[in-house]
Amino acid sequence: MKSYIITLAFCLLAGVSAFGTTIQSPSKNLTLMVGIDDKGVIHYDLLHNAGAVIQNSKLGFTLKDAVPLDRDFVLLYETVNHVDTSWQPVWGEVATIRNNYTELIYHVRQTTTKVQMYIVFRLFDDGLGFRYEFPHQPELKYFIIADELTEFKLSGNHTAFWIPGDYDTNEYPYTKSKLSDIDAVTVSNRYTEIATRTPTGKNYVQTPLMMKTDGGLYINIHEAALVNYSAMQIKVDAATNTLNAALVPDAVGNKVYMTSPCKTPWRTIVVSDKAVDILASKLILNLNEPAAFDDVSWIKPMKFIGIWWDMHVGVKSWNYSDVNNISLEGTDWKNLPPNGIHGATTERTKYCIDFAAANGIDAVLIEGWNIGWEDWFGKWKENVFDFVTPYPDFNVFELQQYAASKNVRLIMHHETSASVTNYERRLQEAMAFMKQYGYTAVKTGYVGRIIPRGEYHDGQWMVNHYVYVAQQMAKNHLMVDAHEPVRPTGLHRTYPNWLACEAARGNEFNAWSQGNPPEHETILPFTRLMGGPMDYTPGIFEIKMDYYKPGAKEQVHTTLAKQLALYVTMYSPLQMAADLPENYLKYPDAFQFIKDVAVDWQDSKYLEAEPGDYITVARKAKNSSTWFVGAITDENKRMASVNLSFLDNNKLYIATIYADGADADWQMNPKAYQIKKFVVKSNQLLQIPLAPGGGCAISIKPASEEDVNGIPAYKGKW
Ligand code: NOJ
Ligand code: CA
Repeated sequence: MKSYIITLAFCLLAGVSAFGTTIQSPSKNLTLMVGIDDKGVIHYDLLHNAGAVIQNSKLGFTLKDAVPLDRDFVLLYETVNHVDTSWQPVWGEVATIRNNYTELIYHVRQTTTKVQMYIVFRLFDDGLGFRYEFPHQPELKYFIIADELTEFKLSGNHTAFWIPGDYDTNEYPYTKSKLSDIDAVTVSNRYTEIATRTPTGKNYVQTPLMMKTDGGLYINIHEAALVNYSAMQIKVDAATNTLNAALVPDAVGNKVYMTSPCKTPWRTIVVSDKAVDILASKLILNLNEPAAFDDVSWIKPMKFIGIWWDMHVGVKSWNYSDVNNISLEGTDWKNLPPNGIHGATTERTKYCIDFAAANGIDAVLIEGWNIGWEDWFGKWKENVFDFVTPYPDFNVFELQQYAASKNVRLIMHHETSASVTNYERRLQEAMAFMKQYGYTAVKTGYVGRIIPRGEYHDGQWMVNHYVYVAQQMAKNHLMVDAHEPVRPTGLHRTYPNWLACEAARGNEFNAWSQGNPPEHETILPFTRLMGGPMDYTPGIFEIKMDYYKPGAKEQVHTTLAKQLALYVTMYSPLQMAADLPENYLKYPDAFQFIKDVAVDWQDSKYLEAEPGDYITVARKAKNSSTWFVGAITDENKRMASVNLSFLDNNKLYIATIYADGADADWQMNPKAYQIKKFVVKSNQLLQIPLAPGGGCAISIKPASEEDVNGIPAYKGKW
């Protein structure tokens, strides 16, 4: 609800000049200027107190077989609103979010065609969002966008953290370079382990794009509320330091099909001279619509384990048999020769349920439970899974009873192999099956080339599919975790049952490829996580893969302690304890942190951060006075500083610190950790050494005089 709105029509603005219109953000640290030049081209500038962010950048479109909407515009009228409200997310990093902005609605008409369009700008203290809206009008009913011409002309050749533009995947590690040094195709070609790559071109990168100016300004470009539109990539024109919107096409080369009234997603520019403000920004969530349904009581953040890492490290298989080229309907599954390493068995699932129940883990994910994995991806096969037929060694009914008796939930797995026509045909039946057998959440997956053939993971058709699945699941009170979808844009506000997405390079790449470099997790919160939570699957304790396969070179590129820290630094309401239960049993003192850590938060304080280098964040569990801290570093060792001023004054707390061992190192000695307990107070500064590729996790609980007996007070020294 709007607490106050002031509307000023027709140029009654503080800042109408020869340039056009000027508005300022609530604290006046950001200034937006919008105008129309003598050719009728609409352009905008964004200024931060510390320097220019966007300069004289064009807005508009070209259309297929129609007059381009890129010039000949005149201003009809403009409206300025001030909004300052707050709202409570169903779950999140904080319990209350302030939505405070100055809005400019810029209503224009093209003189030649009479086409009308609104450009809505919302200027927050931490950035700008804007979108195009097309009202219902006889001059523009159905149209196809050939190109969106939105520009972001920067003030210089900034340093960027980028992944290659690609129509099908976001599972790349990040490259840090000057914008002028981007060579996306060469970089893409280094990652042949990604199942489906369709790089866009040499100068194309994806959003969220994180940049830093030489003057120390942090700028993040992305989008909010990507609905019924294709994903925006960025074409970099290094000669002019200009970023251009580049939409993902469909199978016939068109970008977006529009029918008025309609609107584009918001283009977002988050900006601050402090890196921690970028991480704390709620701009993208604020630009999304409130929850699409009222009853959210069934939505629950959760921790889970799974029959999953077993397959990634190669000791188990998703498929039941090694015979391939099978037909779903015509196969006598009971008489197929089993390969002897099938992971999803009734027995193993019961073991996982027992482990979850004993350790307060909410749920168990089981992958490879259903027929079809013999042919799963790489064949572009349409009729690949049916989502309702278990393999002969997986007893759904028995497991439903068993899980219920232990108060553990089961997470369904729908790998679609990107055969989306098949999935949509079978979705209602698949959801009915989930309801029948007591599943409350599903992990979906889109590995492979899309069917309908020719479509891409990030085009309009698939964007609509991901939203459709979230909507259909919500109708059935089912939660969703999507792997390999388009990267998120804050839609979890509108569909809070859409708990998480992968949509980036997850921990799994460490099991079977060159993996993720130690800086990876210090970049993800500045890039991929700007749009929403990630199912990164942290918690790997057996770091080196030669544990499973003698001689294997693959490894997780962190220390064990950093795996713990990720539960706090990589925000998600859905957190996997991804390693095998057996590996947790070997390190019960370290596993204690995973058991304790919360998945829903009252408050979050980003204490220190630099993209590509380090992040330290403190979070207070919802409905609790316990805090959790995560601190991570890249390949360099460093000292994490945790200023405890977020704690209540004059109260005693016990901090349990899960730190790297004195000689820990992600490569040489990743499993060395130490756990120390101290009595701490709000006026103290904890300083904790992080190993190369290391991290530290801390739980901080209020304590009575009795509790602290025998526990040393923190004296400023480690
Ligand atoms: C890729 C997903 O990211 C991973 O988590 C899953 O195990 C496999 N696909 C199989 O569905
Ligand atoms: Ca994946």
